[in-house]
Amino acid sequence: MSIHRFYTKTVSEKLLYTSFLLLIGLGYLMATAYLYVTHEMNDGKPGLSVEDVANSYYGNRSGTRLEAAIRGPMSGFISDDDRESIVAWLKDGGEEDHYEPTIKPILQKTCLNCHVASSGMNLPDFSTYAGIHKVSSVDTGMSMASLLKLSHIHLFGISILLFILGWIFIQSEINVHFKRFLVVSPMLAVFIDVASWFLTKWDSHYAMVVIFAGAVLGFSMAAQIVISLYQIWFLRRPADPDDHPPLK
Ligand code: HEC
Repeated sequence: MSIHRFYTKTVSEKLLYTSFLLLIGLGYLMATAYLYVTHEMNDGKPGLSVEDVANSYYGNRSGTRLEAAIRGPMSGFISDDDRESIVAWLKDGGEEDHYEPTIKPILQKTCLNCHVASSGMNLPDFSTYAGIHKVSSVDTGMSMASLLKLSHIHLFGISILLFILGWIFIQSEINVHFKRFLVVSPMLAVFIDVASWFLTKWDSHYAMVVIFAGAVLGFSMAAQIVISLYQIWFLRRPADPDDHPPLK
Protein backbone atom coordinates (compact mmCIF):
# COMPACT_ATOMS: atom_id res chain seq x y z
CA MET A 1 0.00 0.00 0.00
CA SER A 2 1.50 3.31 -0.94
CA ILE A 3 0.97 6.09 1.52
CA HIS A 4 0.57 9.58 0.10
CA ARG A 5 2.01 11.74 2.79
CA PHE A 6 4.50 14.55 2.43
CA TYR A 7 7.23 12.56 4.22
CA THR A 8 7.23 10.04 1.39
CA LYS A 9 8.11 12.78 -1.12
CA THR A 10 11.50 13.61 -2.53
CA VAL A 11 13.03 16.98 -1.77
CA SER A 12 12.39 18.02 -5.39
CA GLU A 13 8.69 17.34 -4.97
CA LYS A 14 8.66 19.22 -1.69
CA LEU A 15 10.35 22.19 -3.35
CA LEU A 16 7.87 22.09 -6.21
CA TYR A 17 4.90 22.08 -3.80
CA THR A 18 6.43 24.74 -1.59
CA SER A 19 7.16 27.21 -4.37
CA PHE A 20 3.70 26.70 -5.88
CA LEU A 21 2.01 27.22 -2.49
CA LEU A 22 4.00 30.39 -1.82
CA LEU A 23 3.22 31.82 -5.25
CA ILE A 24 -0.53 31.25 -5.07
CA GLY A 25 -0.51 32.64 -1.53
CA LEU A 26 1.10 35.77 -2.90
CA GLY A 27 -1.36 35.74 -5.82
CA TYR A 28 -4.25 35.66 -3.37
CA LEU A 29 -2.86 38.67 -1.47
CA MET A 30 -2.41 40.56 -4.75
CA ALA A 31 -5.99 39.78 -5.80
CA THR A 32 -7.30 41.05 -2.47
CA ALA A 33 -5.23 44.23 -2.69
CA TYR A 34 -6.42 44.77 -6.27
CA LEU A 35 -10.07 44.40 -5.20
CA TYR A 36 -9.46 46.86 -2.39
CA VAL A 37 -7.91 49.63 -4.48
CA THR A 38 -10.41 49.26 -7.35
CA HIS A 39 -13.54 49.10 -5.16
CA GLU A 40 -12.90 51.14 -2.02
CA MET A 41 -13.96 54.48 -3.57
CA ASN A 42 -17.18 53.17 -5.21
CA ASP A 43 -19.29 54.81 -2.51
CA GLY A 44 -17.11 57.91 -2.39
CA LYS A 45 -15.55 56.96 0.96
CA PRO A 46 -12.19 55.32 1.61
CA GLY A 47 -12.18 51.78 2.99
CA LEU A 48 -13.96 48.75 1.58
CA SER A 49 -17.61 48.48 2.66
CA VAL A 50 -20.77 46.58 1.77
CA GLU A 51 -21.91 49.67 -0.19
CA ASP A 52 -18.77 49.51 -2.35
CA VAL A 53 -19.60 45.95 -3.32
CA ALA A 54 -23.28 46.75 -3.84
CA ASN A 55 -22.40 49.76 -6.02
CA SER A 56 -20.19 47.79 -8.35
CA TYR A 57 -22.80 45.13 -9.16
CA TYR A 58 -26.12 46.87 -8.47
CA GLY A 59 -24.93 50.39 -9.21
CA ASN A 60 -25.86 53.57 -7.37
CA ARG A 61 -29.46 54.00 -8.51
CA SER A 62 -30.40 56.83 -6.17
CA GLY A 63 -29.91 59.37 -8.94
CA THR A 64 -27.66 60.69 -11.66
CA ARG A 65 -24.42 62.63 -11.34
CA LEU A 66 -26.00 65.47 -13.33
CA GLU A 67 -28.87 65.91 -10.86
CA ALA A 68 -26.50 65.74 -7.89
CA ALA A 69 -24.31 68.44 -9.52
CA ILE A 70 -27.06 70.95 -10.40
CA ARG A 71 -28.54 70.59 -6.91
CA GLY A 72 -25.09 70.80 -5.33
CA PRO A 73 -21.76 72.21 -6.54
CA MET A 74 -23.09 73.51 -9.92
CA SER A 75 -26.31 75.07 -8.56
CA GLY A 76 -24.87 78.57 -8.85
CA PHE A 77 -24.66 78.30 -12.66
CA ILE A 78 -28.33 77.52 -13.30
CA SER A 79 -31.70 79.20 -12.66
CA ASP A 80 -34.41 77.42 -10.69
CA ASP A 81 -36.59 77.05 -13.79
CA ASP A 82 -33.79 75.55 -15.83
CA ARG A 83 -32.93 73.17 -13.01
CA GLU A 84 -36.50 71.95 -12.89
CA SER A 85 -36.52 71.41 -16.65
CA ILE A 86 -33.37 69.29 -16.44
CA VAL A 87 -34.63 67.29 -13.45
CA ALA A 88 -37.95 66.64 -15.25
CA TRP A 89 -36.03 65.52 -18.33
CA LEU A 90 -33.87 63.18 -16.21
CA LYS A 91 -36.97 61.69 -14.53
CA ASP A 92 -38.33 61.05 -18.02
CA GLY A 93 -35.29 58.93 -18.80
CA GLY A 94 -33.06 61.61 -20.33
CA GLU A 95 -33.88 60.64 -23.90
CA GLU A 96 -32.13 62.21 -26.86
CA ASP A 97 -35.31 63.53 -28.57
CA HIS A 98 -35.95 66.13 -25.86
CA TYR A 99 -32.28 66.97 -25.54
CA GLU A 100 -31.95 69.25 -28.60
CA PRO A 101 -35.03 71.48 -28.05
CA THR A 102 -35.01 71.84 -24.25
CA ILE A 103 -31.76 70.74 -22.64
CA LYS A 104 -29.10 71.89 -25.07
CA PRO A 105 -30.12 75.59 -24.87
CA ILE A 106 -29.93 75.47 -21.05
CA LEU A 107 -26.45 73.95 -21.11
CA GLN A 108 -25.34 76.53 -23.66
CA LYS A 109 -26.21 79.44 -21.36
CA THR A 110 -23.43 78.86 -18.83
CA CYS A 111 -22.36 75.22 -18.54
CA LEU A 112 -20.48 75.15 -21.83
CA ASN A 113 -18.21 77.98 -20.68
CA CYS A 114 -16.40 75.31 -18.75
CA HIS A 115 -17.74 71.90 -19.83
CA VAL A 116 -16.23 71.66 -23.32
CA ALA A 117 -13.05 69.89 -24.33
CA SER A 118 -11.54 73.19 -25.51
CA SER A 119 -11.82 74.79 -22.04
CA GLY A 120 -8.66 72.93 -21.09
CA MET A 121 -10.09 72.12 -17.64
CA ASN A 122 -10.42 68.42 -18.36
CA LEU A 123 -14.11 68.43 -17.31
CA PRO A 124 -16.81 66.19 -18.77
CA ASP A 125 -17.69 67.62 -22.20
CA PHE A 126 -21.41 68.55 -22.43
CA SER A 127 -21.38 69.91 -26.00
CA THR A 128 -22.82 66.65 -27.36
CA TYR A 129 -25.61 64.30 -26.25
CA ALA A 130 -23.07 61.51 -25.77
CA GLY A 131 -21.13 63.73 -23.37
CA ILE A 132 -24.12 64.65 -21.22
CA HIS A 133 -25.42 61.08 -21.37
CA LYS A 134 -22.44 59.91 -19.32
CA VAL A 135 -23.65 61.91 -16.32
CA SER A 136 -27.39 61.75 -17.07
CA SER A 137 -27.92 58.00 -17.00
CA VAL A 138 -28.60 56.09 -13.81
CA ASP A 139 -25.71 53.86 -12.81
CA THR A 140 -27.00 50.27 -12.85
CA GLY A 141 -23.68 48.67 -12.02
CA MET A 142 -21.70 46.14 -13.96
CA SER A 143 -23.18 45.15 -17.31
CA MET A 144 -24.46 41.63 -17.87
CA ALA A 145 -21.69 41.06 -20.46
CA SER A 146 -18.95 42.07 -17.99
CA LEU A 147 -20.50 39.85 -15.33
CA LEU A 148 -20.59 36.84 -17.64
CA LYS A 149 -17.01 37.48 -18.68
CA LEU A 150 -15.80 37.83 -15.11
CA SER A 151 -17.79 34.73 -14.05
CA HIS A 152 -16.42 32.30 -16.57
CA ILE A 153 -12.84 33.49 -16.04
CA HIS A 154 -13.28 33.03 -12.30
CA LEU A 155 -14.99 29.65 -12.55
CA PHE A 156 -12.43 28.15 -14.92
CA GLY A 157 -9.37 29.80 -13.39
CA ILE A 158 -10.08 29.41 -9.69
CA SER A 159 -11.40 25.85 -9.95
CA ILE A 160 -8.17 24.71 -11.63
CA LEU A 161 -6.14 26.54 -9.01
CA LEU A 162 -8.20 25.02 -6.18
CA PHE A 163 -7.90 21.57 -7.74
CA ILE A 164 -4.10 21.70 -7.74
CA LEU A 165 -4.02 23.24 -4.27
CA GLY A 166 -6.44 20.62 -2.92
CA TRP A 167 -4.49 17.80 -4.55
CA ILE A 168 -1.39 18.89 -2.63
CA PHE A 169 -3.33 19.52 0.56
CA ILE A 170 -5.06 16.09 0.75
CA GLN A 171 -1.64 14.56 1.37
CA SER A 172 -1.53 16.16 4.80
CA GLU A 173 -2.51 14.37 7.98
CA ILE A 174 -5.42 16.03 9.76
CA ASN A 175 -8.86 15.19 11.05
CA VAL A 176 -10.60 13.64 8.09
CA HIS A 177 -13.84 15.63 8.48
CA PHE A 178 -11.90 18.89 8.61
CA LYS A 179 -9.94 17.78 5.56
CA ARG A 180 -13.09 17.02 3.57
CA PHE A 181 -14.59 20.33 4.65
CA LEU A 182 -11.50 22.24 3.52
CA VAL A 183 -11.51 20.48 0.14
CA VAL A 184 -15.13 21.32 -0.61
CA SER A 185 -15.57 24.73 1.07
CA PRO A 186 -13.45 26.86 -1.32
CA MET A 187 -15.11 25.32 -4.38
CA LEU A 188 -18.53 25.96 -2.89
CA ALA A 189 -17.46 29.49 -1.93
CA VAL A 190 -16.45 30.29 -5.50
CA PHE A 191 -19.80 29.06 -6.76
CA ILE A 192 -21.72 31.09 -4.16
CA ASP A 193 -19.52 34.13 -4.82
CA VAL A 194 -20.19 34.11 -8.55
CA ALA A 195 -23.89 33.38 -8.08
CA SER A 196 -24.18 36.26 -5.61
CA TRP A 197 -22.71 38.73 -8.13
CA PHE A 198 -25.77 38.10 -10.27
CA LEU A 199 -28.07 38.25 -7.25
CA THR A 200 -26.46 41.55 -6.19
CA LYS A 201 -27.07 43.04 -9.62
CA TRP A 202 -30.72 42.22 -9.03
CA ASP A 203 -30.92 43.15 -5.32
CA SER A 204 -28.12 45.07 -3.58
CA HIS A 205 -28.63 43.23 -0.25
CA TYR A 206 -26.80 40.21 -1.65
CA ALA A 207 -23.54 42.20 -1.41
CA MET A 208 -23.25 40.64 2.07
CA VAL A 209 -23.17 37.18 0.49
CA VAL A 210 -20.42 38.27 -1.93
CA ILE A 211 -18.28 39.33 1.02
CA PHE A 212 -19.09 36.24 3.09
CA ALA A 213 -18.23 33.84 0.25
CA GLY A 214 -15.01 35.74 -0.43
CA ALA A 215 -14.06 35.40 3.24
CA VAL A 216 -14.74 31.63 3.23
CA LEU A 217 -12.63 31.24 0.07
CA GLY A 218 -9.78 33.20 1.66
CA PHE A 219 -9.95 31.21 4.90
CA SER A 220 -10.01 27.82 3.18
CA MET A 221 -7.17 28.64 0.81
CA ALA A 222 -5.03 30.04 3.62
CA ALA A 223 -5.69 26.95 5.78
CA GLN A 224 -4.79 24.57 2.94
CA ILE A 225 -1.60 26.48 2.19
CA VAL A 226 -0.43 26.84 5.80
CA ILE A 227 -1.20 23.24 6.83
CA SER A 228 0.49 21.87 3.69
CA LEU A 229 3.58 24.04 4.04
CA TYR A 230 3.97 23.07 7.68
CA GLN A 231 3.59 19.33 7.11
CA ILE A 232 5.80 19.29 4.01
CA TRP A 233 8.78 20.37 6.09
CA PHE A 234 7.97 19.39 9.69
CA LEU A 235 5.77 16.28 9.77
CA ARG A 236 8.01 13.29 10.56
CA ARG A 237 7.57 9.79 9.18
CA PRO A 238 6.18 7.50 11.97
CA ALA A 239 8.95 5.37 13.53
CA ASP A 240 7.01 2.13 12.97
CA PRO A 241 6.04 1.82 9.28
CA ASP A 242 2.80 0.01 10.23
CA ASP A 243 1.90 2.92 12.42
CA HIS A 244 0.33 4.92 9.60
CA PRO A 245 -3.14 6.12 10.36
CA PRO A 246 -5.63 4.50 7.97
CA LEU A 247 -5.82 6.42 4.71
CA LYS A 248 -8.87 8.58 4.18
C1 HEC B 1 -17.00 78.00 -14.06
C2 HEC B 1 -16.89 76.71 -14.68
C3 HEC B 1 -18.10 75.78 -14.61
C4 HEC B 1 -19.38 76.03 -15.03
C5 HEC B 1 -19.95 77.29 -15.62
C6 HEC B 1 -20.11 74.80 -14.79
N1 HEC B 1 -19.30 73.85 -14.26
FE1 HEC B 1 -19.79 71.92 -13.82
N2 HEC B 1 -17.97 71.61 -13.07
C7 HEC B 1 -16.95 72.54 -13.03
C8 HEC B 1 -15.83 71.97 -12.31
C9 HEC B 1 -14.49 72.67 -12.03
C10 HEC B 1 -16.22 70.68 -11.93
C11 HEC B 1 -15.39 69.63 -11.18
C12 HEC B 1 -15.29 69.93 -9.73
C13 HEC B 1 -16.52 69.63 -8.99
O1 HEC B 1 -17.08 68.52 -9.14
O2 HEC B 1 -16.93 70.45 -8.16
C14 HEC B 1 -17.55 70.47 -12.43
C15 HEC B 1 -18.28 69.31 -12.26
C16 HEC B 1 -19.52 69.09 -12.81
C17 HEC B 1 -20.22 67.83 -12.78
C18 HEC B 1 -19.73 66.57 -12.12
C19 HEC B 1 -19.06 65.69 -13.14
C20 HEC B 1 -18.76 64.32 -12.56
O3 HEC B 1 -17.74 63.79 -12.99
O4 HEC B 1 -19.52 63.83 -11.74
C21 HEC B 1 -21.39 68.00 -13.44
C22 HEC B 1 -22.46 66.94 -13.69
C23 HEC B 1 -21.45 69.39 -13.83
N3 HEC B 1 -20.29 70.00 -13.44
C24 HEC B 1 -22.52 69.96 -14.47
C25 HEC B 1 -22.60 71.30 -14.79
C26 HEC B 1 -23.78 71.93 -15.35
C27 HEC B 1 -25.08 71.21 -15.69
C28 HEC B 1 -23.48 73.24 -15.51
C29 HEC B 1 -24.39 74.35 -16.02
C30 HEC B 1 -25.58 74.53 -15.29
C31 HEC B 1 -22.11 73.43 -15.04
N4 HEC B 1 -21.62 72.25 -14.62
C32 HEC B 1 -21.44 74.65 -15.08
C33 HEC B 1 -16.95 73.81 -13.57
C34 HEC B 1 -18.06 74.41 -14.10
